[in-house]
Amino acid sequence: MTMFKTRSPVGRRLKDPRLDAVEPESGDVAVRIRAVVKHFGEGERQVQALRSVDWDVYAGQMSLIVGPSGCGKTTLLSVIAGILNADSGSVTIFGDEVSNMKDSARTRFRASKIGFIFQQYNLLPALNAAENAAIPLVIAGWSKGKAVARSREVLKSLGMGPKVDSLPNQLSGGQQQRVAIARALVHEPQLLVCDEPTAALDQQSGHSVMELLKESAVRPDRAVVVVTHDNRVFSFGDRIAHMDDGRIVKLESRSEKNQSGHG
Ligand SMILES: Nc1ncnc2c1ncn2[C@@H]1O[C@H](COP(=O)(O)OP(=O)(O)OP(=O)(O)O)[C@@H](O)[C@H]1O
Ligand SMILES: [Mg+2]
Repeated sequence: MTMFKTRSPVGRRLKDPRLDAVEPESGDVAVRIRAVVKHFGEGERQVQALRSVDWDVYAGQMSLIVGPSGCGKTTLLSVIAGILNADSGSVTIFGDEVSNMKDSARTRFRASKIGFIFQQYNLLPALNAAENAAIPLVIAGWSKGKAVARSREVLKSLGMGPKVDSLPNQLSGGQQQRVAIARALVHEPQLLVCDEPTAALDQQSGHSVMELLKESAVRPDRAVVVVTHDNRVFSFGDRIAHMDDGRIVKLESRSEKNQSGHG
């Protein structure tokens, strides 16, 4: 008997028997990571940043990566997002194995399927909010007019309607992060990756940014992965992967708590 509510298998959901003890059955696997190893440097100065990581990220959920400074969180996120190449192992995103792609194919894949949010908002200072958030669409070949019109809509949906024409230096930190969220979501990526998205924000703005991410980015066919130090953010995660020294050492699932009352 299982304490987890189980659903019948859907789509190309993949099951890893090693994770059975902690992973309740759920939606499609969005990101499947197997035996990922990554080191930096050579010889005595070599750092083993990832020591064979296995992890499944599910669609329809927000998954968190937490752990002490230097444990490999950003490295893992960068490998997932195709910013860094792993030394070995495989990363599959919605069924496509990115670890095998050539650089040009991976760049295209990344541009269309993945959205990025970082601690530093990385907005271009000379562009207003709508122009900043439109960048992924312009890169994808949209005309500037159409891209900015679409970006304005996304900003409005994020409560930024009155600020669409403001320059970054006219916005608060929380507002700049909203522009960064709009930029990450404007091309409707299937996977959103966020590295310490609340680190530069006060408690209140951090909370509302996380609420916004949860409302606007989590969809049945999409997945969100957030790296965080910030324990105020933990309650937003459907699943939490705890890392230490290049490994995932514990997996927690909030759905376990949510579902225990249902049998
Ligand atoms: N480009 C690099 N060159 C050399 N070593 C690196 C590089 N990037 C990361 N490292 C090392 O790899 C390890 C993991 O780093 P990573 O940035 O993934 O940690 P983190 O968990 O994100 O830490 P933090 O919470 O401080 O952001 C650390 O020991 C770090 O010093
Ligand atoms: Mg980091």
